[in-house]
Amino acid sequence: MEFSIKQSSPEKQQSDCVVIGVYEAGKLSAAAQLLDKTAAHHLSDLIKRGDMKGKLGTTLMLHHVPHIVAERVLMVGLGKTDEFSSKQFLDVLRTSLGALQKTVCKNAALYLTDLPAKGRDEPWKIMQTVLIAAESGYRCDQLKSKPADAPTLHKILLGGASKPNSAAQAALDQATAIARGMKLTKDLGNLPGNICTPTYLAEQAQALAKAHKLKATILEEKDMQKLGMNSLLSVTHGSRQPAKLITLEYHGGDKKQKPIVLVGKGITFDSGGISLKPGADMDEMKYDMCGAASVLGTMQAIAEMGLKLNVVGVIPSCENMPDGAASKPGDIVKSMSGQTIEILNTDAEGRLILCDALTYAARFEPDTVVDIATLTGACVIALGHVASGLFSNEDKLAKELLDAGDYAYDRAWHLPLWDDYQQQLDSNFADMQNIGGRAGGSITAACFLSRFTKDYRWAHLDIAGTAWKSGKEKGATGRPVPLLTQYLINRAQSVK
Ligand code: BES
Ligand code: MN
Ligand code: ZN
Repeated sequence: MEFSIKQSSPEKQQSDCVVIGVYEAGKLSAAAQLLDKTAAHHLSDLIKRGDMKGKLGTTLMLHHVPHIVAERVLMVGLGKTDEFSSKQFLDVLRTSLGALQKTVCKNAALYLTDLPAKGRDEPWKIMQTVLIAAESGYRCDQLKSKPADAPTLHKILLGGASKPNSAAQAALDQATAIARGMKLTKDLGNLPGNICTPTYLAEQAQALAKAHKLKATILEEKDMQKLGMNSLLSVTHGSRQPAKLITLEYHGGDKKQKPIVLVGKGITFDSGGISLKPGADMDEMKYDMCGAASVLGTMQAIAEMGLKLNVVGVIPSCENMPDGAASKPGDIVKSMSGQTIEILNTDAEGRLILCDALTYAARFEPDTVVDIATLTGACVIALGHVASGLFSNEDKLAKELLDAGDYAYDRAWHLPLWDDYQQQLDSNFADMQNIGGRAGGSITAACFLSRFTKDYRWAHLDIAGTAWKSGKEKGATGRPVPLLTQYLINRAQSVK
């Protein structure tokens, strides 16, 4: 999809379809008023007749509107004037793009980014328009023998009253890079476990490195053994696929500038291991590498943007499978940090691979480390599919990530990491056990990780509820690429 910004009048704009908004009670948006005037009140007449009531989520496609240059006009309902804020703006965009995708239009001109949405500026509206338009055109048919009908909509013009300016253009460029990063994350997430193996992820990282001048390093199991990553290696024992520890380095900043390290959980299939998961919906555990995929998507986005910042991606990747050689409940392993872990449940494997990757991350002398993981089912129970769980050993960092998530509309919610929860991890036989019971399951998982991140500023994002959708719309969402990229954009601005 191609995007451009143009100061233009909707009635004069050549396009397959011009999109304008109408509030409830028939109030026309500024762009709709301009169009209505030239069209000899064609729109207001329709509204008077009751064909369009301006309700949020409704559309009406018009053909042959008198005196209008464009071939079609799509009227979209904006709801109540005084209720129009972020969520309504995004709903309107989703509705408009959904309607456009059902037509044969090859291009469209949207007059929506000048709608006043409470607390949001024009760059924000441009960014969200690009992300939603890209989402609407996403198809996952890589593995269908007959690809689904390719979307016809290719070009979107963002028309409006204000002159194209550098902030608007920057928002457009950044959003385009974020959208492409999300596509990579979705494509990888949607691939099945028999194709998207740890080796496949390593190849993807190498391809990304080649295309964008990043440095990729792949550690093999024998390298990990030398480093003492016995916790990570214990998870891969039941698998025929070799584990990989992938690192990707992006040097966009000053040589002396300490990097931000992103650590992504890369379990390419989580059967639970000997603590086998129930059969229902087990296929969805192919998505257990979405943390890893979001690191790759974010690295691609910042490389395309040429962000002036140093960023390292670290991806521990393996399968979690049952087998004669697999870890057994009760097994005790020594992590790279030297701390010993009693594995009471082999299905709590994410923390077992992350703890060694987090110890390894210290080698990069990080300014900040953020890990991203589909870590706990408990997080889905706590926050549903709306917010990712956020934990941090520094409130300022938590705030920065929350703000980035709010701006990108890829939101997170801050959960406690108080010492009072740590005792749930006490073990009779080792330094800690890998599960803390049902109560506060996401918190005790984060507490487990916190024992390996004492030497640097750190945050943990639990994306179990936000990385993919179940049911009829099953598929990866590309989250939290917008949150992560926005955080890095903000960081790059603050070092300037
Ligand atoms: N990958 C899962 C977490 C998960 C579960 C994500 C459901 C999305 C939906 C993780 O490895 C896991 O199995 N966690 C266990 C931990 C438990 C054994 C302490 C869980 O949440 O049930
Ligand atoms: Mn698991
Ligand atoms: Zn898992």
